[in-house]
Amino acid sequence: MCGIIGYIGPDPCAQILVQGLQKLEYRGYDSAGIAIVDGGQLQTRRARGKLMNLIETLARDPIDGTVGIGHTRWATHGGPTEHNAHPHSVGSVAVVHNGIIENYLPIKRELIAAGHTFKSETDTEVIAHLVWQNRQRGIGLEQAVMEAVRRLEGAYSVVVVDAEEPDTLIAARLASPLVLGLGEGRNFVASDIPAILSHTRRMVFLDDGTLATVRRDGVVVRRISDAVEVPVEERTIAWSPSLAEKGGYKHFMLKEIHEQPDAVANTLRGRVSLERLAVDLPELQMSAEEFAALSQVYVVACGTSWHAGMVGRYLMEDLAGISPHVELASELRYRRAPMDERTLIIAVSQSGETADTLAALKDAKARGVRVLSICNVIEASIPRASDGTLYTHAGPEISVASTKAFSTQVAALHLLALHFGRLAGRLDDDTMRAELSGLVRAAASMERMLQHDEPYLQAARAWHEARSMLFLGRGALYPLALEGALKLKEISYIHAEGYAAGEMKHGPIALIDETVPTVVLAPRDAHHDKVRSNLQEVKARGGPIIVIHTEGDEETAAMGGIAIPIPDVPERILPLVCALPMQLIAYHMADFKGTDVDQPRNLAKSVTVE
Ligand code: F6R
Repeated sequence: MCGIIGYIGPDPCAQILVQGLQKLEYRGYDSAGIAIVDGGQLQTRRARGKLMNLIETLARDPIDGTVGIGHTRWATHGGPTEHNAHPHSVGSVAVVHNGIIENYLPIKRELIAAGHTFKSETDTEVIAHLVWQNRQRGIGLEQAVMEAVRRLEGAYSVVVVDAEEPDTLIAARLASPLVLGLGEGRNFVASDIPAILSHTRRMVFLDDGTLATVRRDGVVVRRISDAVEVPVEERTIAWSPSLAEKGGYKHFMLKEIHEQPDAVANTLRGRVSLERLAVDLPELQMSAEEFAALSQVYVVACGTSWHAGMVGRYLMEDLAGISPHVELASELRYRRAPMDERTLIIAVSQSGETADTLAALKDAKARGVRVLSICNVIEASIPRASDGTLYTHAGPEISVASTKAFSTQVAALHLLALHFGRLAGRLDDDTMRAELSGLVRAAASMERMLQHDEPYLQAARAWHEARSMLFLGRGALYPLALEGALKLKEISYIHAEGYAAGEMKHGPIALIDETVPTVVLAPRDAHHDKVRSNLQEVKARGGPIIVIHTEGDEETAAMGGIAIPIPDVPERILPLVCALPMQLIAYHMADFKGTDVDQPRNLAKSVTVE
């Protein structure tokens, strides 16, 4: 949800900023812009639409200079026009911002009354005016920004540059992500790690409510509330820069789909012991006694992560005898669900920055609830607000449509269910051995599945012009049907619905005709016969079928016009392997249609606004 970057160092920085924005473009692509101090003057270039337009503008009209800021926008306040594009500048000051300033209107009215003229409809522009107003009172840049952001309510990460104090960048955050990258004689600021990973692995994750003064030779971080300096805690990131490149794949999404066997193996690495028949999760910081004292568990998430949470419910019911409430964060945070110190809430989030999930978690924490998270991005806001975090270690996910985040979240939830099951004394050694070896072998099954794309190409060729599609699954594959429909909608723009297969006859079956294909998840599992009956009901009404079936189950394969085989894996591993056909159907449909697979319209990867 908007990406921001800043650089200060010895090098001409236009290219550095643009390269960073390329890595951040998944966060928004309504417009892009940079501002650089060039020969003592602030130079700004902005362009509506994708970053490519800014690159063309810069080719026609380049800027020099070694300190600057950049932004890629997902529009909230004001349309996706050039005049609403960041950076917003007033006088010698320029600002980039990610977040929403909730009290911008009264501030704007006050500034207009004081004679300020606004050039955009954005909430961000008030920040530039406030800083400039303070600067005109003769206040240094650090203090000017500090005083300005103290007036803001809502969420922000901002970076400010001022041509009149050209050896400093000021960065500040409240409830929106911001990371500093430390180099030799050069320093960076960015919304997330991949934007600066090719320059440094030394990162500082800013806390909420802090402001950093970034110079070529170092950074100083202060609390915004009282300006007291706080220690700078440096972390070295293990991700390699190549993980944030396409590596020969046509799209990041396809690359990330293919990374899933490794990503799942990374989630399991060091946590599974087949000798001791144990799952080791010390990062949960939770004793057997604390677990035994729990009275209820909530899983809270949004979008794809919510679907993973739904799979988690089946796993926890089966393995740990716990039936968690699986909730959409945007709903839970406004409900008055009873929670107390005996409640556990598990937040699931790839980015660790999703505003609704973070708010639901903080709200629960304020009520004394114990908070765990399952997250991919290290040191993001959600893990920082949690009592314990299970990192999925999927590596950077760049494609807006989530893929390896889902499968690694499912693997992490499986580990958690096994851990809880052991703590609850419900899992005997034989069950544990079977579960663990099933999980460990899952990566190899996924690897094998990724060697064949013919059935997906066949489905895409046949149906990429469909206006609507249905996805059916039962049991733990019901969330997979939801996920398949979500993936298709978001990247191919084909309307799609995911349903519990048994629910079809309660209404949705009325949608079926020969133009509406239905994807049926029908591998051999406890629901196999029932799902096959549901499939026949669709078929009897003329609906075309794409069937996902167990290898060798020719009878089920023959029920579909298009049949997609999956390996014969243990039942509780099915959600992991079934994720691949859901993703690949959507991917190839979108690719056939020629949509912008990695950056679908209207979406942004990290939803840091409500
Ligand atoms: C769908 C997708 C979104 C995210 C959702 C939550 O492909 O990517 O639905 O799953 O925005 O994001 P995280 O997991 O970062 O909290």
